Amino acid sequence: MPVITCIDDLKRLHKRRTPKMFFDYCESGSYTEQTFRENTTDFQKLRLRQKVAVDMLGRRTDSTMVGEAVSMPVALAPVGMTGMQRADGEIKAARAAEKAGLPFTLSTMSICSIEDIAEHTSRPFWFQLYVMKDEGFVDSAIERARKAGCSALVLTLDLQILGQRHKDLKNGLSAPPRLTLPNILDMMIRPRWSLEMLATKRRTFRNIVGHAKGVGDLSSLMSWTNEQFDPQLDWTKIARIRDQWGGKLILKGILDEEDAKRAADFGADAIIVSNHGGRQLDGALSSIRMLPRIVRAVGDKTEVFLDSGIRSGQDVLKALALGAKGTMIGRAYIHGLGAMGEEGVSKALEVIRKELDITMALCGEKSVQNLGRHNLMIPKDFEGDYL
Ligand SMILES: Cc1cc2nc3c(=O)[nH]c(=O)nc-3n(C[C@H](O)[C@H](O)[C@H](O)COP(=O)(O)O)c2cc1C
Repeated sequence: MPVITCIDDLKRLHKRRTPKMFFDYCESGSYTEQTFRENTTDFQKLRLRQKVAVDMLGRRTDSTMVGEAVSMPVALAPVGMTGMQRADGEIKAARAAEKAGLPFTLSTMSICSIEDIAEHTSRPFWFQLYVMKDEGFVDSAIERARKAGCSALVLTLDLQILGQRHKDLKNGLSAPPRLTLPNILDMMIRPRWSLEMLATKRRTFRNIVGHAKGVGDLSSLMSWTNEQFDPQLDWTKIARIRDQWGGKLILKGILDEEDAKRAADFGADAIIVSNHGGRQLDGALSSIRMLPRIVRAVGDKTEVFLDSGIRSGQDVLKALALGAKGTMIGRAYIHGLGAMGEEGVSKALEVIRKELDITMALCGEKSVQNLGRHNLMIPKDFEGDYL
């Protein structure tokens, strides 16, 4: 077992052990990848304020997110095709999240289905919904999530049209991979990945195949997804979904103050300040730079979560100190999964928890609730002086 000390260690193993097209799918942003890069580098611009001679016994990282107890304010973000990073990936990640006392979010575009996760876990998970033109599919997905006991619906608003990721086109990304010579060779040099994948029956989009009308095989699935994301998604349609669901609603992909205010007035239980991990609007500012103004805009009308760029417990601390009530991680846990399966996701969560705990102590804080701007040194131009 290799010695893992940080998320970067897991990322290196992920790259080595996973077919190129899936590692690239994870580790890329749209177009020039400016926003993708700045999501992480902007965290580094925030500096921490050291405090000494403060009693540091009895530290606590536990909190709540939309009323649910969490062992630290970190949820696992929805990540499409997680079951291609490692066989049964969503089940493995959901189990690791449950063991860690954290919420897991299942993507609409997952390999394992809602029912698969319900069968293999006992903690209620969150379901992320993409709004499709086919209202019948949307309604049945909501119904299936309700039946599975999902405790929140995460409605993603920033991907009704797809930002281009160059590598996915060049690699011919698909699930399962097409059996071309380069793909076969790539899989042959990753025997663990290939054998596990051969042993599972979960190799395509099980939330969709068999649930959407006219989608039975892979070729129709491709045309279905390309055609199905609803480009006319607006607040009226969001209201229809809210009423249909009737439970906790989290709106994901908010990066603008006016949108944030609208979401809060609309009654969202939480909003996720996110640019989809730099995978959509290339050129947008990083989530962490947009966070302060959004927190100011919504006040305490709704809970504010942040994702995009978190790679450490220090990053979690910085987001909380800038006013987020919770955070979500995507690639950080996917690197763990690709590196070492369920154990790797547990490792990623443990790394982040320890970093958060130790950093809190060095900042002279005993609880995540007490974190605030007083823990940070913020560059004067951090929010930017844009017109
Ligand atoms: C490979 C990959 C697939 C993703 N798929 C989805 C998805 O299906 N639904 C969704 O709402 N967000 C999706 N996201 C965005 C994540 O939920 C989250 O916003 C993002 O990963 C946060 O950035 P981070 O990876 O830097 O932590 C995906 C992100 C990645 C990296």
